[in-house]
Amino acid sequence: MAEESVISTIHSMADVWDAYRHELDGVEDRIHKNLDSSVALVNTVAAQILSGGGKRIRPLLLLLSARLCGYAAKEHHQLGSVVEFIHTATLLHDDVVDEADLRRGKKTARKVWGNQISILVGDYLYTKAMCRVVEFRSQGINEVLSEACNKMAEGEVLQLYYNGNPAIPESDYIKIVEHKTAGLIAAACRMGAILADASEAQQEALFRFGQFLGIAFQVADDNLDYVANGASLGKTIGQDLRQGKATLPLLHLLQHCSEHDRHMIKDRMETRTLNATDLDRILLLMAEYGSVTYAMDRARTYIDAAKRELELFEDSTARRALAVTADYMITRDR
Ligand code: IPE
Ligand code: IPE
Ligand code: MG
Ligand code: MG
Repeated sequence: MAEESVISTIHSMADVWDAYRHELDGVEDRIHKNLDSSVALVNTVAAQILSGGGKRIRPLLLLLSARLCGYAAKEHHQLGSVVEFIHTATLLHDDVVDEADLRRGKKTARKVWGNQISILVGDYLYTKAMCRVVEFRSQGINEVLSEACNKMAEGEVLQLYYNGNPAIPESDYIKIVEHKTAGLIAAACRMGAILADASEAQQEALFRFGQFLGIAFQVADDNLDYVANGASLGKTIGQDLRQGKATLPLLHLLQHCSEHDRHMIKDRMETRTLNATDLDRILLLMAEYGSVTYAMDRARTYIDAAKRELELFEDSTARRALAVTADYMITRDR
């Protein structure tokens, strides 16, 4: 089915989920079918995280990008599941590196089964994704996806290099975010376009769209780490600072607060001790100096830039859905 000639009304994210529910069900079906290891423990651990309530934002962007470019077949369900496998693999690894206890409101795999299993099942999901992606026999897809995976690893290492250091330049913060998060989102958008045999200009536009979206998405995530409702977020609040990670709202605060407060924050980062009173104090300071608002404004600028990339395409249900999803990337609460 080509993109419908009748353009659906899409105003909210609920409209997007509704309009593309059957497509996302197709992705779910593939995710389920790809969990076919002969080692039961692999399936148990992978199923726990894969069915844990992830937003499926990357497969959604991939299938919307494909539809935007007129894709009419169903292979994007499989490619969407590949992207979700890679994303899930990085979460299994990330929760080990970040020593996280909670993900999607439940104990992390590393808390239930230990770090070793978490890393190894992450490897399994990564490599399973590779097995599935080469079946597409598309050099374009292979190049885009392998480049994105490589960039992610690089971003995670750069982030680790800065761990405990409150003096990270904002340009390096953006570089980390671009590598660890935006690369895969940009690849998802571009792979949708490749599947649809879109022109190079359209592929490039969707890649940039995903890149801007991905940066904004991570900046919003870094804000949520301070200001979200823990129950909706499903992760532990304040975990970034507790783990020695300086993100955009904190970098802003460090530039504006008093020497005394800066000293307190640096101490908590370096010693990796942050109690509830410290966190409350930091939240008050962030409110006073507008640090979260600053980071949110930066994220909004990236979303605006992303939406301008959509101007290359004619109006369609998919284009409207992508614009609404762009806003959701930074207005979400989980
Ligand atoms: C979490 O990604 C990791 C980041 C890049 C911020 P998501 O927020 O997409 O996680 P799930 O899959 O919906 O849980
Ligand atoms: C995103 O960074 C991790 C990856 C892109 C692998 P975070 O460490 O902020 O993600 P969460 O907050 O744990 O989901
Ligand atoms: Mg993390
Ligand atoms: Mg985070």
